[in-house]
Amino acid sequence: MKLLHLDSSALGAHSVTRELSAAVVARWRAQLPHLQVEYRDLDAQPIPHLTGGSLAKANPAEVAEAEAVLQQFLGADVVVLGVPFYNFGIPSTLKAWIDRIAVAGKTFRYTETGPQGLAGGKRIIIASGRGGVYGDASPFDFQEAYLRQVFGFLGITDIDVVRAEGVALSPQHRSDALAAAHAAIPEPLAEAA
Ligand SMILES: Cc1cc2nc3c(=O)[nH]c(=O)nc-3n(C[C@H](O)[C@H](O)[C@H](O)COP(=O)(O)O)c2cc1C
Repeated sequence: MKLLHLDSSALGAHSVTRELSAAVVARWRAQLPHLQVEYRDLDAQPIPHLTGGSLAKANPAEVAEAEAVLQQFLGADVVVLGVPFYNFGIPSTLKAWIDRIAVAGKTFRYTETGPQGLAGGKRIIIASGRGGVYGDASPFDFQEAYLRQVFGFLGITDIDVVRAEGVALSPQHRSDALAAAHAAIPEPLAEAA
């Protein structure tokens, strides 16, 4: 089984989502010693923004990287994402990754009856960090709701969210939210337990 672990926080060692995503991966490693884990820090090793040149395949190195990013996603059984809430949405570094994995004919296609996701069968775990408190269904949430939409469009419905929110309100809020999020980390696949 392959697990792809991505972080996107710009806050380095102070990051809430880096701590949480690492804890999720540690839980999986503990239960599945033979788990193959691949890691990419999208902040330290960003993927180029999708441009007209990207679509024209103007740069062979960029084409090769885009293909590698897509294949890495397609090959993963589980994807663990560290996702901060930045300006009501996700970090642009993570959006740049999404722009490389949402590929017509590879991860979705359009049919006469509408779009069809082609990347089903994966499990996604989102380690979410939010400075304020938005809950499960805020009209201002373009982070978790957006990711559910994107991955759902690609055919992925097995999505868990581990959320620490209100972390900017006070140090106490931050530590309480992190403790609650750690306690809510989902178990790896039931059959592996
Ligand atoms: C650039 C930036 C934008 C942010 N925008 C928001 C925001 O719109 N709403 C909010 O509640 N918190 C916002 N925050 C606070 C983050 O959501 C909070 O710090 C969270 O812990 C981010 O996860 P991280 O610690 O892993 O980076 C922002 C933080 C940064 C650095």
